[in-house]
Amino acid sequence: MDDTMQHTGPGPRVAVVCLGNICRSPMADVVLNARLAEAGADVVVHSFGTASWHVGKPMDERSAATLSARGYDATQHRASHFTAAHAGAYDLVLAMDEANHADLLAIGVPADRLRRFRDFDPEPGDGNVPDPYYGGEEGFHDVLAMIERSADAILAHVTGVRR
Ligand code: 4NP
Repeated sequence: MDDTMQHTGPGPRVAVVCLGNICRSPMADVVLNARLAEAGADVVVHSFGTASWHVGKPMDERSAATLSARGYDATQHRASHFTAAHAGAYDLVLAMDEANHADLLAIGVPADRLRRFRDFDPEPGDGNVPDPYYGGEEGFHDVLAMIERSADAILAHVTGVRR
């Protein structure tokens, strides 16, 4: 894959994927869509879980509280399941951690469209966005910080425009 993706037709499509689609990827979905709305950029961002447990549910209330405290609208999210039917439908699929990455490869996402979310984090740590589900509130704040640090680089990558 090139460093940037050039599109002449409809805008690029990005999927952000974690395990349950109630904690991490919904936060990334909201932050990326807020920045896209600000920039008026023609990019589609959806989020999914590799597991179907929470389909149709709103995001975890700790994710929602962390987002709303920073001024984001967390009310619209409903969880979706990433299946083989989605595997070729996105130009860029971002896995929140290495288990998600392995699952997405196994589902059939082309390797050249699959990246880890923290490949775009200027402070990438071990490359994983850690699952905050079983931990305390601080884990959710850490996840939001990783997402906010990575968001502009992700959007620059898919649009070819640096902001
Ligand atoms: P997420 O977090 O993958 O960031 O949405 C999780 C949500 C639910 C579960 C695990 C992780 N769960 O085991 O139900």
